[in-house]
Amino acid sequence: MSEAAQRGLRLFEGKAMCSRCHAGFNFTGESYRNIGVGMAVRDPDLGPYTVTRDDPDQGAFKTPTLRDVARRGPYMHDGSEKTLEDVVAYYDRGGVKNPWLSSDMKPLRLTAQERADLVEFMKALTGRIDPEVSRPPDLPR
Ligand code: HEC
Repeated sequence: MSEAAQRGLRLFEGKAMCSRCHAGFNFTGESYRNIGVGMAVRDPDLGPYTVTRDDPDQGAFKTPTLRDVARRGPYMHDGSEKTLEDVVAYYDRGGVKNPWLSSDMKPLRLTAQERADLVEFMKALTGRIDPEVSRPPDLPR
């Protein structure tokens, strides 16, 4: 991994708090979280809530894996973020406020360099993975 991607990994697990949700070997905790995507409209898509009618689920979507993420896009269930740079800017703003927003979503106050490093890290998750990166991080479950 490049130096920038390594800095990005440290941010991913540290200041940017991404690994609170994108945890483990495949960078997904498999959990459903409300990160505010699509919540700024009058009649938002409430995700699994439409099936479960369980209140904490409102607007929660499954945390996707970040493997090969640079090959996908547009991002999020509604394709509302075009690029990985847009995704990082979204998280930097702390998502869209709503009553069910995950408490792990906070404005991050990243510098331009830090945002670029996070994007480099996600690009490094494409294809053949550096053994150092694919080692599952030691995280609380
Ligand atoms: C509170 C949990 C949570 C945190 C913290 C979080 N994510 Fe996510 N992430 C999600 C969920 C849930 C989705 C899917 C949202 C949707 O589809 O609307 C997602 C989607 C994404 C996507 C889009 C993937 C795709 O295939 O569309 C990327 C890229 C991403 N996150 C990167 C990050 C980065 C980088 C950080 C840290 C800056 C981060 N995430 C922090 C839960 C989280």
